[in-house]
Amino acid sequence: MKFLLLFALISSVACIACPPGFSVVNGQKCLRILRNNLKHLEAEQDCSYLGGTLVTIKTAIDNRAVTNLAASAGAQNIWIGVFCYATGNTTTCYHDDNTGKLTYNGFAAGNPQINGNGGCVYMSTATKTSGQWFSAPCEVIGMPFVCEVPPTVADSTCTHNFNGYCYATGAELDPNNPRLNYQSAQAACQAYGGNLASIHSKPEVDFIRAIFRNSGVTQIILGAQAFLPDTFDWVDGTNFDFDYTDPLSSYTGDCLMMDLSSRANNGMWSEGSCQYSNAFLCKRKIMAGGYTTVRPTTKKPAMEKRNVNPKFKKALPHRQELLDFSNCNTTLYMAPGVITSFGYPNTKPPVTKCTWNLATLGPYRIGVYFTDFSVYNPVIVYDENGNTISSSSYNKSPFSVLGKSNIVKITHDSAYDATYGYTGFSATILPF
Ligand SMILES: *[C@@H]1O[C@H](CO)[C@@H](O)[C@H](O)[C@H]1NC(C)=O
Ligand SMILES: *[C@@H]1O[C@H](CO)[C@@H](O)[C@H](O)[C@H]1NC(C)=O
Repeated sequence: MKFLLLFALISSVACIACPPGFSVVNGQKCLRILRNNLKHLEAEQDCSYLGGTLVTIKTAIDNRAVTNLAASAGAQNIWIGVFCYATGNTTTCYHDDNTGKLTYNGFAAGNPQINGNGGCVYMSTATKTSGQWFSAPCEVIGMPFVCEVPPTVADSTCTHNFNGYCYATGAELDPNNPRLNYQSAQAACQAYGGNLASIHSKPEVDFIRAIFRNSGVTQIILGAQAFLPDTFDWVDGTNFDFDYTDPLSSYTGDCLMMDLSSRANNGMWSEGSCQYSNAFLCKRKIMAGGYTTVRPTTKKPAMEKRNVNPKFKKALPHRQELLDFSNCNTTLYMAPGVITSFGYPNTKPPVTKCTWNLATLGPYRIGVYFTDFSVYNPVIVYDENGNTISSSSYNKSPFSVLGKSNIVKITHDSAYDATYGYTGFSATILPF
């Protein structure tokens, strides 16, 4: 009892709470060590099901705390949430949590050392090298790891607690009515004190995928409404600041559905009818110190704020002065985004050879979604070891190529495209 009280005191002083299983570290991070030896991508997948990534370390104080956490659990080496794309150069290393390039690093001399290793990074807790970071082959070595999730607000009544919100499925709210149309589902969510779920990050996508894992549910209706064709607002009034629309979906409708089928790249959204009865998910904000009634909101976010991510399906240049926006020969192109053949959408493609080095952050694999495809010589997609994943030519309906890791290379030679009447390609790049 005393311990509980003390704990409550500490957490309230720290002003944050962590989901069950996670501890508050340095008063601001929610961390959990997992002691099973997993390869890098498996470790990331385990963290993603908890709504997080491998731990991101941004200060020497964080580094010390993570070292202590790992050492006290008896782990000699742990994966951490850093991925590097070039040898001996920390300017190509990125944090897992989508905050960009490293602002702090604990690399041991001679690291990162990617050639022959891969871009993954682990921390040692052994006495001599305690707290230092090293490169390691991502998919060869298994080791323990530390997951990090966003801090949240404590709520003992909440089963699915993430980032200050509590989530409940339709089936959990009322087992007799697990599937409803948009309007009825939203009414059920309002009765619960929230709204149909809005989504604002890839970790949130992953957290929701985990809620429905093994549930048999293959699609849910989200809390979005079209106010113009193909243009959505979240019903809870939050900004539409993250777009995970399936680039290959051709369905139309006034509602957004999230795919939860068993395919590896599930979680993406497509348009659908609001009349259709579907499984659903409610999301309510947890208020510190008590239950809240949430006001339905009619506020529309400002139009300018919508374009944080491109509307991928129709991504075309706005800056007409740019001669080329193909991203041909870029040294490193980070998803999400769009690449095209050189000169696209010019119907007479100029003759050139292009290479695209595409990547996404360490926790994810990279998906290439060809939305328009018309070439003579093949467009070849390689994995990060140079093995061919796919090679396609001629006119094709939209299709996807899923990377084996977070890096792919694409090549195309447009030498004969214009000669034989082919018009080039456009592809949306998304993490999954
Ligand atoms: C690191 O890489 C960047 C981008 O590739 C490059 O501009 C820079 O010169 C490199 N620095 C070193 C020390 O190699
Ligand atoms: C891309 O790089 C290749 C090989 O270096 C070069 O032949 C080609 O002209 C470049 N393409 C463009 C559009 O810059």
